[in-house]
Amino acid sequence: MNNHFERTGPLTELTSYPQWAQDMVADCESTKQSVMEHELWAMMRECTLGDVATTNFMVGIWPFIERFPGYMALNLLKTQYGRSAGDDKARRWLVRNIRVEQNHAEYWINWAEGAGIPRSTILHRKALHGTGGLAAWCEEISTHGTLAAGMIATNYAIEGVTGDWSQFVHDSVKYRESFEPSVRASSLRWLHLHAAYDDVHPWEALDIVCTLMGLEPAAGEIIHLTECVKRSYKSMCMLGDRCMQSRQAVNGFDEAAA
Ligand SMILES: [Fe+2]
Repeated sequence: MNNHFERTGPLTELTSYPQWAQDMVADCESTKQSVMEHELWAMMRECTLGDVATTNFMVGIWPFIERFPGYMALNLLKTQYGRSAGDDKARRWLVRNIRVEQNHAEYWINWAEGAGIPRSTILHRKALHGTGGLAAWCEEISTHGTLAAGMIATNYAIEGVTGDWSQFVHDSVKYRESFEPSVRASSLRWLHLHAAYDDVHPWEALDIVCTLMGLEPAAGEIIHLTECVKRSYKSMCMLGDRCMQSRQAVNGFDEAAA
């Protein structure tokens, strides 16, 4: 049987992808939901997160934000022009999208500043112990994993779920209006850009991974990719957990109740 996959259906419909990819997405759905249901986002929306957790969130994710184009570059290094349709697709996409990431680190700092956290804190404060797992995982899989594994963990899984939580937070009028009008637009730029309103990046990444893997990858390869997706979601969840724990630990009681 011809293992070659070339998408013919719409980019953003799961049925356009091979059965194994549909099964993988379904298998990972509950883990993805655990990120979306994390209380961090709900509290951010309600402006009840408090200074400690907000700072730990902004500082804790920063190494990942700063390094994100680097993960893409590490994956780009694995491509070889002309080797396969998947390689060519990945190469073109990564080259183009690394450039898109150019200003996102600065926008993250703008978001933090708008939320009252100085630039120097983001740049120089040591992140809370236990929040480094997400960046470490992305670095590891982008360095040592296959091209498909690196892209599914970062550009598909993390970008996908980040698009969803960004939209969830950005949809909150209360949250948006918590920023000073003079800096509101610049503060919210990162969130707005990453909100999944019409973001096709995770779909494009899935399309590339399926082109690389074909219609019938070995069972072990599918299991590995599925684990990569889940590990990305879990890393994001653990980072959220750690920020929430810190929120209670600092004062010895729930900050919002004070
Ligand atoms: Fe970005």
